[in-house]
Amino acid sequence: MEERIDIQEVVTRDGLQIENQFVSTDQKIDLINKLTASGVNKIETTSFVSPKAVPNLRDASDVMLGVNRHPDVTYTALIPNVYGAKRAVACDVDEVNLVVSVSQTHNWKNVRKNVYESFSEFEDISGMLAGTGVAINGSLATSFGCPFEGKIEDEEVLTLIDRYLELGALGITLADTTGMATPIQVYRLCSKVLDNWPKLPLTLHFHNTRGMGLANVMEAIRAGVYRFDASLGGLGGCPFAPGATGNICTEDLVHMLEFMNYQMSVDLDQLIATSKYLETIVGHEVPGQVIKAGKITDLHAV
Ligand code: COA
Ligand code: ZN
Repeated sequence: MEERIDIQEVVTRDGLQIENQFVSTDQKIDLINKLTASGVNKIETTSFVSPKAVPNLRDASDVMLGVNRHPDVTYTALIPNVYGAKRAVACDVDEVNLVVSVSQTHNWKNVRKNVYESFSEFEDISGMLAGTGVAINGSLATSFGCPFEGKIEDEEVLTLIDRYLELGALGITLADTTGMATPIQVYRLCSKVLDNWPKLPLTLHFHNTRGMGLANVMEAIRAGVYRFDASLGGLGGCPFAPGATGNICTEDLVHMLEFMNYQMSVDLDQLIATSKYLETIVGHEVPGQVIKAGKITDLHAV
C-alpha cells in the first residue's frame, strides 16, 4: 500500500464547465494561483474544446497564459481533438489530457465522434507532439458505467488503455463520469490494470453522484492507486451526461486522507480557505461537507 497520495485539482475544468454562470478570466486565474499555493500536484487548468459546446471555458487560452506556473505543479488541459491540441500547445501546456469515452453513445454525445474516430485524431496529436516535450495523458470517460448504455466491461477499458499506451500516453485516467462505480468494481478494475501495467501512472477520477466517491477512493488505494482527481468544493459534472453532478470534493478528500496519516503535499487549511473563496466567485454554496462542518479537530465551546 502506497502512503503518499497525489492530489490533482480539476475545479477550473470539470467544476466550472457546468456552472450556470461564466466565471471571469481573472477570477479563474486567481483561483488557479491559490490552488498552486495550496500545494496540489496537478491542475487541470481548463479545456480546449469548442466554445459552443462549453461556453464557460471559452477563455481557455487567456487562462492558461495568465496563471503563475510553479515548477512542481503540472498544468494540464482537457483536449478532444487536433484543433484543441494545437490551441493548448500554443499556450505551452505541460500535458494534454486526451478524452474519449469507453461508451460509444457517451462519446458521440460528448465529442460527436465514435471511439475509433477519437483515437484516429489522437494518433495525429501524438505525431504532432513528438519532440515537443508536451506529455500525453489518456482519459477514459464512463470507465465504470454509462448513463445511456449502462454496464461497461473491464475488458473494454483494458483494450482502450492499450490503445492509449501504443500512441505514447504516459499516464491513464479512469473516469467515473456519472458516479456509477461501486467500491468492489473499483478494486477489481484497478487491480487488473495494475497487474497488467504495474508501473503505469494511473489516476482515478470519481464523481460523488451517488455518494460512493470516497469509498471508491479507499478501494482504489487498496488496489495500489495513489493519484486522484478531485474538485474544490465538490463542483463538477459533464454537461453531456444526464444527471451528472460534482466530482469528489478536494478538501473532503484531503481531510479524510490527512486524518488517516497519508502523506500529501497539499495544505488543508489553505484548501478550505480557497473553497470559501470559490463560493464567492460562483455565487452559491458548494456541496463539500468539511467546509460546512469544519475539520474533526475543530471543537466547539461547551
Ligand atoms: N477548440 C475550439 N473550437 C473548436 C474546437 C476546439 N478544440 N474543435 C472544434 N471547434 C470549433 C470549430 O472551429 C467549429 O467552429 P465554427 O462553427 O465557428 O466553424 C465548430 O467548433 C465545430 O467544429 P467541428 O469540428 O464540426 O466540431 P463538432 O461540432 O463535431 O464538435 C467537438 C466536436 C469535440 C469540438 C465538440 O463536441 C466539443 O468541444 N466537445 C467538448 C465536450 C466537453 O468538453 N465535454 C466535457 C468534458 S468531458
Ligand atoms: Zn469528471
